Amino acid sequence: MLSPTQLLLLPPTLLLCLVIRRILTNFFFHPLSSFPAPFYTRLTSLPLAALSLLGREPEFLHNLTKKYPPSTRAILITPTLLFFPHASSLKPIYWSPTHNHKGSLYGTGALGPTSLFSTIPAEDHKSLRKSLGGTHWSVSYLKTFQEPRIDNLVTFFVNQLSLLPPDHEPFQMGEKLAQFAADVMTLLVFGKPWGFIAHDRDERRLLSAFRESLPMFAFAARCNSFRELILSSPWIRGLIMPKVDDKTGSGYLASQAKLAVAQREQEREQGIGGEGKMRDYLDYTFDARDGNGEPLTRAQKEAHATLLIQAGADTTGSGLGAVLRLMLEHGECMKKARREIEVADEKGLLSTPVLYEETKQHLPYFVACIKEGLRVNPPAPNLFGRIILEKGGTVIDGVHVPQGAEVCSNPYVVGRDPELYGPDAEAFEPERWLNGNEKRRAEMEAANFVFSMGPRVCLGKEIAMMEMYKVLPEIVRRFDFEVVSAGKYVDRGGVACNKDFMVRVRRRA
Ligand code: HEM
Repeated sequence: MLSPTQLLLLPPTLLLCLVIRRILTNFFFHPLSSFPAPFYTRLTSLPLAALSLLGREPEFLHNLTKKYPPSTRAILITPTLLFFPHASSLKPIYWSPTHNHKGSLYGTGALGPTSLFSTIPAEDHKSLRKSLGGTHWSVSYLKTFQEPRIDNLVTFFVNQLSLLPPDHEPFQMGEKLAQFAADVMTLLVFGKPWGFIAHDRDERRLLSAFRESLPMFAFAARCNSFRELILSSPWIRGLIMPKVDDKTGSGYLASQAKLAVAQREQEREQGIGGEGKMRDYLDYTFDARDGNGEPLTRAQKEAHATLLIQAGADTTGSGLGAVLRLMLEHGECMKKARREIEVADEKGLLSTPVLYEETKQHLPYFVACIKEGLRVNPPAPNLFGRIILEKGGTVIDGVHVPQGAEVCSNPYVVGRDPELYGPDAEAFEPERWLNGNEKRRAEMEAANFVFSMGPRVCLGKEIAMMEMYKVLPEIVRRFDFEVVSAGKYVDRGGVACNKDFMVRVRRRA
């Protein structure tokens, strides 16, 4: 029989034993314990989770990388997560079909029901991607069928900005561009923009509610115990997950996807349907067939429509804002880009609004500014985790990684790898994409991790690039910008935004 004092001491003693066991395992017996790591990340996943919650993760990982000699190819950033900071690790991690199994970082349910993005097993992803991918994601398809619709939005956006009086109140340019991107996505997915530009507001708080929810999910993704013990409780999930009867945010978006799928089903039954130019991405989810030739389920169609908006609106908005902000911050780049547009205009090479192909052909410096802006301020500075399933493990960047380990990289850090970008890797220098060693430039293109790479590369990359190649040159061509507040790049749970980037615009003669 235990005495009352012994009984009282029992729980703390047990807890202490558990902590000591955890420390001994993590430091000496875990399969990843031989990898370099600061003691606090080897001990627990909490520091990384907390840094992510505070929006400090990309910077932290970058600084951490600098603390180790260049020969360090992998660092343990939680007791179970191995981080590869060099561009040379990307191909072996992300192009290998055997590492296409996603890691626990994706298991939070942050984006609602399972979609292409959150499908974890490699095989399931492969067949879903096969049915949802296709030529309608290619540049040539977009140029023919979707660019004219995006043109209408660009023209509308420019007109709305032109209506502002010369002494108008400064506004958040990053937010305006995110609203433009949200209108493009709702147009492409549902056939009609939601009216972000027309009403000059964040419709149904689609962008802000999404952004507010991400840090908590990013915390859960990194903190294993929080995810497994707390987030898995149905009661807690019920409290925090978006619901279809919400009037705003992702819940409202899911309800609209549900409605749109039901309506489209009816229209198709009645033989009404978008043809040619009028087809939207919801139509393509109806066309999709699985490996047995069966159409997707209603839930899959709804999840895909929701995902496309979530994946494509704020990310693209963030990229648009970052490129413009960095160009304005580096006045000489803006001058050069504008001069390039003027020369092309004098030769009559640009339509109104600028076409994707015209930017590509006639505005190489502007294209370099876009690439450089995305490299320096990637819109999704997240950890993209993959599980090593090969028997006996594998070798990544010269390092043997055991079977079962979770590995990841991050575009903010690999985009600053001095081995690839040189000693000025942290500087915004569009010229690096145009001048110098051709082999090096080809390597930089191949190591572009902004949209990830390999079998899970961003499906909407070309849509995002089309928006960048059109709306940015068009507004630089039409407006002068007075920067009232330079703003900064801020990570919010894996998607960045351009905080306090305030401008006034004036229509150019
Ligand atoms: C600048 C804008 C964008 C950035 C930086 C971006 C970034 C990414 C990244 C890094 C991934 C891979 C994530 C992973 O490996 O876990 C991804 C996946 C994805 N993105 Fe994007 N994205 C952007 C725009 C878009 C747009 C416009 C759409 C839709 C039209 C879109 C749809 C998707 C989808 C569906 C996936 C999942 C692909 C799969 O798992 O097979 N994205 N994106």
